[in-house]
Amino acid sequence: MTGPALKKADSHRMIHSAARGEIEEATMFLERFHENSEDVNNLALQAVVELWKSKVIAHAEEEENTLYRDIEKIDIKFNPVIERLSRDHEVLRKLCGMLESEMSKKDYMHALQIAHALMLLNDIHSGDEISLIREVENNL
Ligand SMILES: [Fe+2]
Ligand SMILES: [Fe+2]
Repeated sequence: MTGPALKKADSHRMIHSAARGEIEEATMFLERFHENSEDVNNLALQAVVELWKSKVIAHAEEEENTLYRDIEKIDIKFNPVIERLSRDHEVLRKLCGMLESEMSKKDYMHALQIAHALMLLNDIHSGDEISLIREVENNL
């Protein structure tokens, strides 16, 4: 069963923007990697990876197990958009895995490129997802 906060577009959007704010803040430390010590860079990257996993990937998991299944039950016409949103989740997971593997490589420039790609993809995904929820929220 979908949790009440995920079912409504406004509350769902607030979950997205809270996660985004925290991730953005942590990413700002990584953006100064040229000036930081190796220890700080390592901790910053670790914090960014942990936030993506706990705030975005776990959220995607919950959506796939509950919200998306409930939307599919409303009407099969929503299946293609659910498939596209699930594919976004898959790419978010792949990018997050790439970001995590940067922790041992210590290539902070590349880590930052991945972090920015994650942010852009997640912004596009979040906008599309909220539009869908707005369309179906009265039937959830
Ligand atoms: Fe999602
Ligand atoms: Fe979401």
